[in-house]
Amino acid sequence: MTRIFTILLCALCMLTACGTKAKTSDSSVADNGKKSIIIYFSRSGLNYVSGDTIFLEVGNTKFLAQKIVKATGCDEFEIVPAEPYADDYTECVNRAEAETASNARPAYKGDIDLAPYDTIYLGYPIWAGTCPMCVFTFIDAHDGFAGKTVLPYSTHEGSGLGRSIEDLKKACPKASLKSGVAIKGSTVKETSIDPIINQ
Ligand SMILES: Cc1cc2nc3c(=O)[nH]c(=O)nc-3n(C[C@H](O)[C@H](O)[C@H](O)COP(=O)(O)O)c2cc1C
Repeated sequence: MTRIFTILLCALCMLTACGTKAKTSDSSVADNGKKSIIIYFSRSGLNYVSGDTIFLEVGNTKFLAQKIVKATGCDEFEIVPAEPYADDYTECVNRAEAETASNARPAYKGDIDLAPYDTIYLGYPIWAGTCPMCVFTFIDAHDGFAGKTVLPYSTHEGSGLGRSIEDLKKACPKASLKSGVAIKGSTVKETSIDPIINQ
């Protein structure tokens, strides 16, 4: 009898210890118990920057996303297209323009449950004047980010936010969508992320 009681006591102690560890291990939990996440699309490879074609090891939008994760401790999810875009710039532009013109919804790899999050930083390059269509595939698959606060930012080579905010308003009618911040792609290394996270 004493032995059974001791085993039960040990099991209870282990369960309590595990529960405590799970609660305290997540640095993306804010004081109000809510969580934030950055969701972004970005493409490494040949890109057109300030008049030159250059090879980017890490895409401009991803570079800023990494800065935001470092500064805020938020979680992250990268929207990776199921069918990768060509490294070649012109080939990629041709496909992107065709997808935008046909309002396509290209598939992405993997997924994430957004239930624990109330704040979403949303990063994307401007492609053909708006978000890459994969971003809309992700938004459609997550109920238009209903009930979430969304802080968008774009990287671009001259179009600013383009028409992305108008398009996001249509895709996220039940989200609280902030006005968005545009960052020129060639300046991401020296750019502060404060305007993005303080929208
Ligand atoms: C397919 C494609 C389409 C683009 N279309 C535009 C555009 O319409 N307007 C613009 O300012 N920049 C455009 N760009 C430039 C990108 O928005 C810019 O280089 C951005 O910083 C790339 O971000 P990333 O490296 O995270 O993918 C385009 C680039 C690509 C590859």
